[in-house]
Formats: sequence, C-alpha cells, structure tokens
Amino acid sequence: MTSTYRAFPQHFLWGAATAAFQIEGAYDEDGRTDSIWDTFTRVPGAIVAGDTAEVACDHYHRMPEDVALMKRLNHAAYRFSVAWPRVRPDGGAVNQKGLDFYSRLVDELLEAGMVPWPTLYHWDLPQVLEDAGGWTNRDTAHRFAEYAVSVYDALGDRVEAWTTLNEPWCSAFMGYTGGQHAPGRQEGAAGIVAAHHLLLGHGLVVDEVRRRATPDRRPQLGITLNLTVADPFDPARPADVDAARRLDGLHNRVFLDPLLRGRYADDLAADTEGMAFEGRPWSSYVHDGDLALISAPLDFLGVNFYHGDVPAALPYDAAPDELLGSRIQGPARPRTSPYPGGGFVFPRRGLPTTDRDWEIDPAALTRLLVRLHEEYAAPPIYITENGAMCDDVVVDGEVHDDARRDFIERHLHATLDAIDAGVDVRGYFVWSLLDNFEWSYGYGHRFGIVHVDYETQVRTPKGSAFWYADVIARNAVPVP
Ligand code: FCB
Repeated sequence: MTSTYRAFPQHFLWGAATAAFQIEGAYDEDGRTDSIWDTFTRVPGAIVAGDTAEVACDHYHRMPEDVALMKRLNHAAYRFSVAWPRVRPDGGAVNQKGLDFYSRLVDELLEAGMVPWPTLYHWDLPQVLEDAGGWTNRDTAHRFAEYAVSVYDALGDRVEAWTTLNEPWCSAFMGYTGGQHAPGRQEGAAGIVAAHHLLLGHGLVVDEVRRRATPDRRPQLGITLNLTVADPFDPARPADVDAARRLDGLHNRVFLDPLLRGRYADDLAADTEGMAFEGRPWSSYVHDGDLALISAPLDFLGVNFYHGDVPAALPYDAAPDELLGSRIQGPARPRTSPYPGGGFVFPRRGLPTTDRDWEIDPAALTRLLVRLHEEYAAPPIYITENGAMCDDVVVDGEVHDDARRDFIERHLHATLDAIDAGVDVRGYFVWSLLDNFEWSYGYGHRFGIVHVDYETQVRTPKGSAFWYADVIARNAVPVP
C-alpha cells in the first residue's frame, strides 16, 4: 500500500517533552529537597492510588539511556524541565550537584546532535517558598528570577532556547483556586494573584537573561501556555455564550493580554472586580511597571494543546446526566472549580474522547493557532505538548497504541492546516516521551510514546513511537 504525505516546512523541529518531577525520581538525592508536589503527594486522597514520584521513571539515573533512545527514534530536540529544588534546594544557595545533572543532560543531547529545550518551571516550587506564601507572595517571582539566572549562567553557553514557565494557568488556578494540584489551596482569587506573580516572574527572568546576552550567547526566550478554545455548549443560549467569554478570559486572555498586549482585558477586570485575596482586591497586586516587564517581546510562544472546552452556564438543567461529570476516577480529595467566580460546567458534546475522557477535536487546534496569529500577532509558535492518554497494554513485548498514533496524526494535520493559513509554527513536541507520574492521576494514566514498566524500569517504544520516528525522518505526515 502506498501512502501520500503532507510535508512540514524545512527546519521544522521535532521532539518529545517531559517534566522533571514526572520522570526523574531520586527525590532526595544529591541535595534535592521537597517541592510542593512532594508534599502534595503525601496528602491523603490527593493522588489516585496514593502514588508518589519518589522513583518515577528513575530518569535521574537512566538519563544517558533515555537520550540514546530519543536519538534512535530520530528526535531532533528534547523538551525537559529543570527542577528548582535540585538547583536551589529550599530556595537557598546554588547546589552544584543539582546543576551538574542538567549540564550532563545538555552535553549528552548535544553529543547526540539534539537541541536542548529546557523549561525553567514545570510546577515544582520549593516547599520552603510555599511556606512563605508561594505564588501568592510577590517575593517568589524574585526568587524565581534568582534561580533561573543560576541555571542560565551554568548552561547558557550551550542552550539557546529557554522557556520560563510551563502552563502558568495550572500552577495558578489548579494550585490556588481549585486545589486539584499542589499546593492544593482553594482560595478563590488567590489564583489570579498567583497568575500575576507567575507572569511577573516570567518578565523578571526575560529581563535578567536578556541582560546577559553577549555576541556569542543569544538566548531565545519564550513561555508555554495551555490555551483552550472556548465554545458555548448551546450557542443559542446567551448565558452559555457569556460563559464561553468568561472562560476565555480566565483561561487564555489572562495570560495572552499581559504578555502580548501589556494589559489585562477590560472584561476580565470587570468579571473579577471585587475579588479579593487577604482583604485586598486582586488588582492591587499589580504594581506600576509590572506589565511593561511582562510584555517584553518574546522570541517564541509555546502552545500546549489537548482539547477545547464547552462551558454551559449554571444553573443548568437541560444537560442530561450522562453529559455531565467525568467517566474516569479522579482523586478522592475534594476540589472546587479552578475558575474564580466559576458559574459554569462542562457537559460533553458527544465527540470521541481519549481514555482520559478528553474530547478529541483537532480542528480546535487549527482555530487556536489561527487566532493567535490574527488576533495577537503571536511570535513564532512551537507546539510544546500534544498527545493522548491511552489504557495501553503490552502484548508479547509490543504496544499497539493505534488510538494515540491517530490522535497525533490528526493534530499534525491540524497544525499543517494552520501553517497553510499563514501561521508561523516551527516545531512539535509530543507529550510525552515516557509514561510518567501524571500528577494527581498518578501512574495509571499513560501518555508516553514509550511504555515504562514501573517494576523493572524497562522502556518499550510503542507503535506510535516508531510511526513518529518515520514522520520525523520524512518531515511529513501520511495522509490517511
Ligand atoms: C499538561 C502538563 C504535563 C502533562 C500533560 C498531560 O497539562 O504540562 O505535565 O501532565 O498535561
């Protein structure tokens, strides 16, 4: 059978993504101390099955083997994150042993001919800083810049592309409003205050790192956002249309506007007016000069995309029960809406879903990318995460994850549709290289293109990994 292929632009960057906490293990080795996620995994009911990340994929000890595997699978780049509690345990002095691990990783990648693509913060705040208020404390942004500079000083001779934050929406709103992520706080407007301080931290890092540029060190700086496409559940119901607007504000524009326009949108300000944290309106946490720092031009924008969202305003009685709630088992610990003020639910619209119960809607990715280009004149875009959770099984040493391959294939076509429409998309990182510790869902949720046996740490590339290796080799995706 012959297939036809759709080509990607020349120099399109291909790879996979991981995050330190989800794969490294070695939680107390070489000076590392607790992050908020170490603490959170010890909270009863916070993680399905009480899983912890103490060992995870043992990547800290198996890093050269994992790099060699990516090389065999044709990957040209590797998106990983640096663990703050390794590099500056307890948010204190620099720990050379922690830095050395990432220095070896970068060398290993360069020797394999791969591009290192580090993220400075993928959710693992040192616990000591959370004890002082975490991201609701403005000082944390300054501590973040101090830590980031120590990583840049150590690796900046070999690393060009730097991502400040991964998905600040999750850090802020799932961590401080909804409480389903560490540190598990459920304090309403604390989420918006945390979001602003995360953005400030991003701005401070961009400023500090750019100051350190020299003729032979030209850092490229970006941020990765998990953006959604908000469609009203019932477009004929004005309350749903308004819910979609509010959701877009509290999920997308709360980051896009300060970063790309230097302001918070008027409708977001109006929706959240009067929301207070520790007795002060959240807007009073925005100081003069903050937005100028936050909106410094970006060299690239990272986009993580899994699914869109379809809000229906409350009170809602028209949705049949089977459209509401999730079909999968979540952690036992009670959670609240991550959207301050909330007031909407997410019924399903009957689209096919992954085993995570997330709707599969590749056309939404195209719409998102086109919007970023048209409405925000976004800088060059990299898809920094996209992938699917599947209930994989190993049969005779093989994993036939056709559903994952299909998911990736359709999203690659969606990316090409955006490129055809004029959007400057320059790379794609599949989430994830390895099955790993999927936050509050623990190890039951497999997202890897490589299967991990957690008893033996044996890695088995799945069907999707071989298929993806072929896509990379051709720089083209088959037309189904
Ligand atoms: C994203 C996270 C990543 C992983 C995927 C499934 O929100 O950035 O660490 O958990 O979802």
